[in-house]
Amino acid sequence: MKGTKVSVIGLGAMGSALAKAFISKGAHVTVWNRNTEKVQAMVAKGATAAASAEDAIAASSLTVICVSDYKTADKILKNKAVENTLSGRTLVQLSTGTPKESREAAAWAQQHGAVLLNGDILAWPRQVGTDAATITFSGNEKAYNTHATTLKLLGSTSFLGEEPGQSSVLFAAVLAYLAGSWIGFVHGALIAENEGFPPEKFGELIHSVSPMLAEESKHMGRVIDQNKFSDPESTVDTTGHDLHLLVQHSREAGISSELPEFAASLFQRAIDAGYGKEEHAAIIKVLRKVS
Ligand SMILES: NC(=O)c1ccc[n+]([C@@H]2O[C@H](COP(=O)([O-])OP(=O)(O)OC[C@H]3O[C@@H](n4cnc5c(N)ncnc54)[C@H](OP(=O)(O)O)[C@@H]3O)[C@@H](O)[C@H]2O)c1
Repeated sequence: MKGTKVSVIGLGAMGSALAKAFISKGAHVTVWNRNTEKVQAMVAKGATAAASAEDAIAASSLTVICVSDYKTADKILKNKAVENTLSGRTLVQLSTGTPKESREAAAWAQQHGAVLLNGDILAWPRQVGTDAATITFSGNEKAYNTHATTLKLLGSTSFLGEEPGQSSVLFAAVLAYLAGSWIGFVHGALIAENEGFPPEKFGELIHSVSPMLAEESKHMGRVIDQNKFSDPESTVDTTGHDLHLLVQHSREAGISSELPEFAASLFQRAIDAGYGKEEHAAIIKVLRKVS
């Protein structure tokens, strides 16, 4: 990729990984970050330092932004100096934001003659630059196609559609899934360590059953899409009962019962609403109704 020019704004854990991936694949990378020590570290790896965000944007037709969130990006981008530089440029916003923020950012860029693609990284920084990093994009398809070869240097990319918020929608859904699994894992580790069972072995067990868990996700998505909850292998009734036992276990063990109580109350609401004979995914029906 010699000759490819790309700028990176934001050199935190993820922004630095993005810049390093571009550099290692031969691109000419211009960087800007608030904290200049991180800029110097990237210059030592072969990047060129920009004196300001507008200078970074002016240096390349494609600029990737990866800071804490869209509000932080707004502090950097929404000023006359940057707005006067934007015409004809493509910005790729890889900071995490809500779908509404992504739509507003795309409209702001358009007002200033630029295109803003919204992207989300489903990976850890160490995976960036390899196929293990999945990166999703939404927004202007022509701009995506123009820069697809450069963006693929970061990982395994996919374009979700022209609606700018799509990528943020998917990222929010994935984050919701991860939040549940992180908290669930930690409660499991708490149970294990409290009884002298090594959490590492618990982690290995979850790893060994992960293909089954992955299948379950696919199955639940299909069931919800097709609104077909009536063919359960395990019912909301059965698991609701198990979750009450998990609350009992936590209290007997003297450990936090916050997660079991939350899970048991959610399943109980579904049972009370008449979904006890249906499969687990049916709890979405009580979550859809926000009182
Ligand atoms: N790390 C991950 O595993 C991961 C995975 C997927 C997605 N992401 C997303 O990637 C984005 C960056 O995450 P990260 O892990 O790189 O975070 P981080 O290490 O905390 O870096 C934050 C970045 O934002 C900049 N920043 C914060 N406040 C600022 C301000 N007021 N003005 C100017 N710059 C400011 C920081 O600049 P300074 O260096 O000057 O403080 C730094 O470049 C987030 O949206 C995150 O959700 C991260």
